[in-house]
Amino acid sequence: MTFSSLGGMLSGGSGIELLMDDLGHALSASGPSTRMLGGGNPAHIPAMEAVWERRLREIMGDPAVLRRTLAIYDPPRGNPGVLESLAALLREQFGWPVGPEHIAVTPGGQTAFYFLFNLFGGKRPDGTPGRILFPLMPEYIGYANQALEPGMFASVRPDITHTAPHRFKYTIDFDRLALGPEIAAMCVSRPTNPSGNVISDAELVHLEAMASKAGIPLIIDNAYGWPFPGIMFADAKPLWSDHTVHVMSLSKFGLPGTRTAFVIAPPKIAAAVSSMMAVTGLANGNFGQAIAGPLIANGDITRLSREVIRPYYLAKRDAALKVVSEVFPDSIPYRLHECEGALFLWLWLENARRTSRELYDRLKQRGVIVVPGEYFFFGDTDDSWRHRHECLRISFAMADADVQAGLEIIAEEIAAAY
Ligand SMILES: Cc1ncc(COP(=O)(O)O)c(C=O)c1O
Repeated sequence: MTFSSLGGMLSGGSGIELLMDDLGHALSASGPSTRMLGGGNPAHIPAMEAVWERRLREIMGDPAVLRRTLAIYDPPRGNPGVLESLAALLREQFGWPVGPEHIAVTPGGQTAFYFLFNLFGGKRPDGTPGRILFPLMPEYIGYANQALEPGMFASVRPDITHTAPHRFKYTIDFDRLALGPEIAAMCVSRPTNPSGNVISDAELVHLEAMASKAGIPLIIDNAYGWPFPGIMFADAKPLWSDHTVHVMSLSKFGLPGTRTAFVIAPPKIAAAVSSMMAVTGLANGNFGQAIAGPLIANGDITRLSREVIRPYYLAKRDAALKVVSEVFPDSIPYRLHECEGALFLWLWLENARRTSRELYDRLKQRGVIVVPGEYFFFGDTDDSWRHRHECLRISFAMADADVQAGLEIIAEEIAAAY
């Protein structure tokens, strides 16, 4: 029995799989005192759980809706009513000139990126290679192993600005960003996982202008952004053009278990994603769309994002930053990325004696789980760049007491790392 090259590549494991396995074992081996500050799971917000309960009762209470949800295949593109409602919401709230033909549903954002990267990247009909460019490393770890051809990803180091004592921020280094003929698409997450960076409106407009000039799509991952879940603390506007492809997911809105996301793109791209969905999965799961459909139709999805989800994470971020200011030693040169969105603190330990991987291992021994930063640097950014091994991602989505206890232990370990 022999796997194909592609089969071998897809099933051959990845850094992130090893790490997730390691995290899982660390968690099952340790007791209830483990502080899990490593995962990307959204928090369980009581007000949102009440919404899910109400929606499930409504679905159960209407036999026609229940049957449609459980016992009928949707078209591969998604539920037509939900596509209509989302297009209407984007027209009304953002002024985007879109209809259902611009939208395709996928089983989570992860699958959307797998489709999009391989739709544009890889060998083209004329034999030339197409590459996906990430204009600002570090980027979301989940992209790193999605290319079906080796060498498909390119990436660029950012500029780093020291914004305040113990703070820094990445910006796109446009001097390094060149769109050669091999670049087939660009992709950014906004807010960015892991750093909590939000690419500014000016940077986004600049990227869009470059994409438009080169005739390639700019893929924008809104997993934490607008219009839902809206975990954005910086002042930033969404952008639509003929060259933007947006991915919006229900996961950080609180429904990761339903595996539901939406690609909003020029009709040719949305149709291609829908065709890829038909080939790989026939149709999407109905549950996420059934739960969220009425919330999209009546605008509750953006109201809840604004009134419940954003304030919840903003308070968690501020509580975590307060603990950091109290327990991290002022005398060591630690820096946190400006937390402008998402669920994470991104800690940079410049010139520390220990690498992020060593710190991860030491913290794991002490029952604190974080994610070592090197997994978020991929593509072809310079491997000798020390910064790649100097960062840790720390989630603040868990209970405040766990975040506090975890940060206290991290403070001791980073003090010992200098
Ligand atoms: C930046 C980013 N994009 C995409 C995803 C994929 O999420 P999902 O497949 O649950 O929509 C995640 C999940 O953590 C993420 O952090």
